[in-house]
Amino acid sequence: MSDSEKNLKIKLAPSILSADFGCLNEEIKSVEEFVDVIHVDVMDGHFVSNITLGAPVVKFIKSKLPLDVHLMIENPEKFVKDFAEAGAARIVVHSEACGENLRAVLMTIRSLGCECGVSIKPATSVEAVKDVLDLVDEVLVMTVEPGFGGQSFMEDMVPKIRELRDLGYEGDIAVDGGINDKTAPICIDAGANLLISGSYFFKASDKKEAAEKIRGIL
Ligand code: DX5
Ligand code: ZN
Repeated sequence: MSDSEKNLKIKLAPSILSADFGCLNEEIKSVEEFVDVIHVDVMDGHFVSNITLGAPVVKFIKSKLPLDVHLMIENPEKFVKDFAEAGAARIVVHSEACGENLRAVLMTIRSLGCECGVSIKPATSVEAVKDVLDLVDEVLVMTVEPGFGGQSFMEDMVPKIRELRDLGYEGDIAVDGGINDKTAPICIDAGANLLISGSYFFKASDKKEAAEKIRGIL
């Protein structure tokens, strides 16, 4: 870990995919004091084979923490405005869903007043996002195949984190999928600073303890 990486704030983002959607705002409120950001997974049944929620639901999420919206959808450019208006602080799109338009989509997100990020699926290399590193607040390295919570961490994704830092990228590097007390330290050590955790965090009876374990301070 380099000195600049040591200075990066380690942030924890619970993925509400593993929360009880019937009482989402209460669930969020009960974890707010232990985490930094709320991670919202949006799936359309096309880009991934699962459907979750859309902008009308995001609009009703109440939190004092910023909402990071992870769009696992096709044609994200059609919907970014809706999510910006629904209250997203940061919108993360998949490079695979944007193709040639990636830079333009990210600029649109910026113009809507949100932070922007780009995510890569396990089969996508860092090369795919090299040209937009100057523009993004976050690169999200998927550590499972996107679509579902509760899957096993793919350790072979870890070199992508180091590769991004070696390219001089100083923004947030997020990891998403199978993040727990064992896998988070591996990612932090490689240079990740934004840990997204769904099932491990929400299943824990002691959220404070789970948060500290993920951050590596317990
Ligand atoms: C998967 C989602 C993740 C998921 C993580 O496609 O992007 O955010 O909720 O869940 P766990 O931590 O259970 O792997
Ligand atoms: Zn996610």
